[in-house]
This record gives sequence, C-alpha cells and structure tokens, in this order.
Amino acid sequence: MKKNIAIINGDGIGPEVTAQSIRVLNALAEKYGHEFNYTYCLMGACAIDQTGNPLPDETIEVCLESDAILFGAIGDPKYDNDPTAKVRPEQGLLKLRKSLQLYGNIRPIVTYSSLTHLSPLKAKQLEDVDFIIFRELTGGIYFGKKELSDDGTKALDECSYTREEIERVTHLAFQFAQKPERRKKLTLVDKANVLETSRLWRKVVKEIALQYPDVAVDYMFVDNAAMQIMLNPKQFDVVLTENMFGDIISDEASVLSGSLGLLPSSSVGVCTALFEPIHGSYPQAAGKDIANPIGSILSTAMLLDYIGLPQEAALVRAAVSWTLQNGFVTKDIDPINFYFTSTIGELISDYVSGKISGTINKENIELRKSTII
Ligand code: IPM
Ligand code: MG
Repeated sequence: MKKNIAIINGDGIGPEVTAQSIRVLNALAEKYGHEFNYTYCLMGACAIDQTGNPLPDETIEVCLESDAILFGAIGDPKYDNDPTAKVRPEQGLLKLRKSLQLYGNIRPIVTYSSLTHLSPLKAKQLEDVDFIIFRELTGGIYFGKKELSDDGTKALDECSYTREEIERVTHLAFQFAQKPERRKKLTLVDKANVLETSRLWRKVVKEIALQYPDVAVDYMFVDNAAMQIMLNPKQFDVVLTENMFGDIISDEASVLSGSLGLLPSSSVGVCTALFEPIHGSYPQAAGKDIANPIGSILSTAMLLDYIGLPQEAALVRAAVSWTLQNGFVTKDIDPINFYFTSTIGELISDYVSGKISGTINKENIELRKSTII
C-alpha cells in the first residue's frame, strides 16, 4: 500500500515523540512492503518563529492533499506567560481543525494491569476500564466571539452550537457505540441544568437516539461526570460531549491509565483525519529523550486503522502492551528505572519487525537505561 502522510512535528517534545512513530511506520513499511511518503509541515511556535504565522497556508494545502496527518504537540511557555501576545501557537491547531473540519475528536481511555500502581486510584476500580470520549472539536466556546473591552476590564468568550454541529458528531458516536466490541452505551456529558447550548445538545441527542435503538443513552452533568470518572470509571462506554468539557475530562481520564503520555487521539471530519497524542508540548522535557512516545505511537495505530491497515495497527498495539508489561517505560511512568524515548521507539519498532521474540536479551537494553539512581 502507498500512502502520503503529512507530518507536523510541532513544538516541545513533538519532534522526538513523532520521530519514534515514524520509526515504527518505517518498520511496518519494510515488513509488509508498504510505501509511506512523509511531507513535513510547520505549525505552532516553531512556525511563528520561522514564518510569523502559526499555520502557514502551505501546511493546510499539504494536509488536504495527504491521506492522513500525524501531529506531535503544540505550545511554548514564552506565549503561555504573555497574555498580551497577539499571535499564539495554539491558534495554528485551532485553525487547522476548523480548516479541515475535524469535528470529531476521539480519545480512547484504557488501563494496563502492569501500570495500575501508578494511578492514584485503587487497582480494583481500574479493572476493565475501557471507554472512549467523543469530543466535538470545531464549535463551542473555543470558536465563539471573543472580545476584550478597550480599557481591558471586561472579556467575553461566547459559546454557541448549531443543531448541525451537534448532529454530525452525535452520529459518529452512536455508530461507534454500535460496534460489536462496544457495550452499546452512550453517555452525553453536558451542563443542561445551566447552559442553553447543553439543552440543545440534549434535545438533539434524544432525537438521534431513536435511530439507534440498540444503544442505551444516559445523560450526566459535567460536574458529576468529572467525579464519576474517578469514582466508577467502568460505567462508561462511549462518552459524547462538547468541545471544552471534552478537553477537560479527557485530561482527567488520563489519570486512570497512569500517564497522560500514553493516550492517543484521532480527529476526524470532512477532510483528511489527524492523529495526535493528547499530551501537550511538555517543554521541560524537550530535547532530553525522556518523553513518553507511546501516546504518539498509539495515535499511529489509530492512523493505520484509518488508512485501512488494521493488522498493522493491531501489531503496534501488541508491541506497546509488550513494552509496558515488561517494564520498558519512560520517566513519567517510572522516575527511577526508566528507559529513553528513543529506546522505547526502538523496542516497539523491533517488535513489529519481528526482531524480538519471547526471549529478549535484557542486558542489551539495560545499557540504554537511565543511569540516574
Ligand atoms: C487538546 C489541547 C488543545 C485544546 C490546545 C493545545 C489548544 O489541550 O488537544 O486537548 O485545548 O484543544
Ligand atoms: Mg487538552
């Protein structure tokens, strides 16, 4: 199979985690005879530094022409700490989402038995946790009218949704809930006791639910949902929510897995889909070879499913589970006995190439381990 993949490394740890995903893609290409062509594009703080624009037009063009997009991370502290900055890296990502109409952001949350000790929750609560968040990505408060009064004492962020914006992501979530491997349950997370937009969400979801009689629907206020994700995460199967609630609860839910660094996502819509880890640019770790590449590598597995390579995607997921089960983890997971970003990428690509069988010479890998005790 021949595919063109747009690569947006972005900022902070973006380039180093994405490099590991490319390594894995190259290993798969060699094993299965695929041809993946990569076109590198700019977005974020690095794009502002080089062109003055967080999303150059050329990036949008390359993305539109590609079969899929792999993206690293965005953000830089020099903008975070300057509320007066007129141009911000994040504007690039928001504009890309809007330009490609990536209206559905899909964030799977699973737990790994070898990592349950890392979660602040009790192991018993984490057993069999397997849910997926469908976050609306191109509407709501992120894209509403924004104003700051001339004297700088009053600010406004408007939250608006149209029926059509709600409908399209709702269908996506219901169709996913119907899949054979799902438990056929959809929870709409909103704030319908206070917000007009949430009441519209509830109305539209109730209507659409009639078309999916095999899926049970329940409704939960976001404050309660934030608590339930910690108290009883097993109850969720498919969670559907608007843009900002989805942003917040997906970071919260990452605590269940053990590290934000493990979680992948895909953003789908009208044009080419985009795949990215849910973590940020983690500038403190940039260039140190310590960031967790698994969020990016699992995003690559989602990309492989999307381009029609489910067997390759399953192999990548098996490789990831193998590393986690064998204690090959980065510093976010084990601050003392950790392996480097590049070592994890190498192990995962060796696994998919078939170079690692049941027995592995751990001594060789130990050499690449951190020496910080
Ligand atoms: C995410 C991020 C982005 C968001 C930022 C970087 C704009 O937090 O993808 O979750 O808020 O959507
Ligand atoms: Mg976020």
